[in-house]
Amino acid sequence: MNVKVENILEVRDLTVKVGDRVILDSVNFDLRPGESYIMFGPNGSGKTSLIHAIMGIPPFEVESGKILFMGDDISELSVYERARLGMSLGFQHPPEIRGVKLGNILKTCLGKDRHYSFSEEEQAMIDAFRLTEFLDRDINVGYSGGERKRSEILQVIFMKPRLVFLDEPDSGVDIDSLKLIADELQRYLEESGSAALIITHKGDILNHIKSKYACIIMDGRNHCFNDPKKIYNEINEFGYAHCVTCNIREQNGWTH
Ligand SMILES: Nc1ncnc2c1ncn2[C@@H]1O[C@H](COP(=O)(O)OP(=O)(O)OP(=O)(O)O)[C@@H](O)[C@H]1O
Ligand SMILES: [Mg+2]
Repeated sequence: MNVKVENILEVRDLTVKVGDRVILDSVNFDLRPGESYIMFGPNGSGKTSLIHAIMGIPPFEVESGKILFMGDDISELSVYERARLGMSLGFQHPPEIRGVKLGNILKTCLGKDRHYSFSEEEQAMIDAFRLTEFLDRDINVGYSGGERKRSEILQVIFMKPRLVFLDEPDSGVDIDSLKLIADELQRYLEESGSAALIITHKGDILNHIKSKYACIIMDGRNHCFNDPKKIYNEINEFGYAHCVTCNIREQNGWTH
């Protein structure tokens, strides 16, 4: 990274709407370079809406609040401009794109055109992600759930983003693939000094991602900023309803 900043992302009092409905009401957090952050929360609590709003993906609208990326307010920028600055998102449900080959989109992610030949290192990554046979196939068309996630995350890593949002990268992924995805992501974050925010419902990924920070999205806000394994164990043992009363609920922000 060529610019030194304390926080890669700062989210301040962010209120997000879909149509007339407020989904998130005054969300606050900071993401620091080289760190990964885990976000838990019940179904429908607004996790996907939050990262889509931060990326500028419709129909999520920022009603009020601030989003600072590398210290600059990006609220008025298009999705395309945010991506060009180094923000990236791996979708919860990666879409099928007919007529676009995986090999060509991977080249685009690397900033190359379709005549480019992958370097040895890039081809080794593609092999490790078990995607070599998919290079001539349309993106996600007929891929299994786990194959979609592997393809999605490799695209994200090839873009060399400063900020990575991953929406349930472990959903439908077998244990070997999960280890591979998480280890490669961890290696990328350590080498690049980028930051990642990972949404998950599961604990397995915590065995591979070195994260010290997690929170819960619930009732439109983020709560319970704490150690990921501690939060996961609480949720696993007592359920999300317990978080309404637990004593870490109102802690406001990570202690970095
Ligand atoms: N395009 C949309 N139009 C209307 N409502 C929407 C739209 N997208 C999301 N919502 C609503 O916003 C709320 C939050 O959805 P979101 O997908 O952000 O939840 P989530 O926390 O990611 O859930 P999950 O864990 O199931 O993925 C839900 O009630 C959902 O129905
Ligand atoms: Mg979601």
